[in-house]
Amino acid sequence: MKPLEKLNTDWLLATEIHKLEARLWRKAELEKVQTILITSANRGEGKSTTVALLATALALHPDRRILAVDLDFREPQLSVHFGRVAVHGLGAVLLGECSPESALIKTDLPNLDLILPAEQGEDPGLLLRSRELAATLEFYRKGYDLILMDAPALGPVADTSAVLPFVDGVVLMTMAGKTTKPQLKRAREICLGMEANILGLIVGNMQESESEYADAEYYANYRRTKPGRYDGNKSQP
Ligand SMILES: Nc1ncnc2c1ncn2[C@@H]1O[C@H](COP(=O)(O)OP(=O)(O)OP(=O)(O)O)[C@@H](O)[C@H]1O
Ligand SMILES: [Mg+2]
Repeated sequence: MKPLEKLNTDWLLATEIHKLEARLWRKAELEKVQTILITSANRGEGKSTTVALLATALALHPDRRILAVDLDFREPQLSVHFGRVAVHGLGAVLLGECSPESALIKTDLPNLDLILPAEQGEDPGLLLRSRELAATLEFYRKGYDLILMDAPALGPVADTSAVLPFVDGVVLMTMAGKTTKPQLKRAREICLGMEANILGLIVGNMQESESEYADAEYYANYRRTKPGRYDGNKSQP
């Protein structure tokens, strides 16, 4: 299911994502942050899912231009979430084989674009460490208000550490019940070691038994009697 459909059909999920989206936008405004990388200590902590949903929720505001970039060359997932494939990927841009503009991919929302890695075989660590990345991001900064990046976990590979100097802010993602305190501490240390600006922490998989969800469920039931909130078809380019 595409992120827009998820936001339309899962009211509790949409509520949490919109709370996050509002805070992230506000923080970006206050701290003049334009490029935000989302990473985690370990694999499988919900980064790609969250980037896809957050980028979509941010782009539901028609006055915002949002770019979602998949920096996970090893297991790219944004293509799956958005049902898009890259003709020219970020790898080709970094290798100087195509222009940054030619790698932009349209989505169902007119103000949300994607950049996908596409290339197989190149060493992602080397590609992402290249000086071209800074220049490429500089180009995209001119066209978008906010650039969200889905990056690999910090623990298993060095790819994300290499990118940290080029982004304005980092959000750490953890999965409740999965990430341990020492693992999260280590991830924080890696970010701070690279002088990264940690904007916050997102905790996924919180239990719906939390008291605030009881009220959310009330509103969700109320909402289910109303027509769809987001009409994806209206937003087709
Ligand atoms: N907030 C959440 N609560 C519960 N499950 C979630 C949440 N977000 C994602 N998931 C599930 O967790 C699994 C991993 O999600 P996802 O691929 O987004 O993680 P990831 O951090 O990007 O993984 P990787 O490190 O491999 O790139 C998926 O099955 C996804 O459906
Ligand atoms: Mg992922």
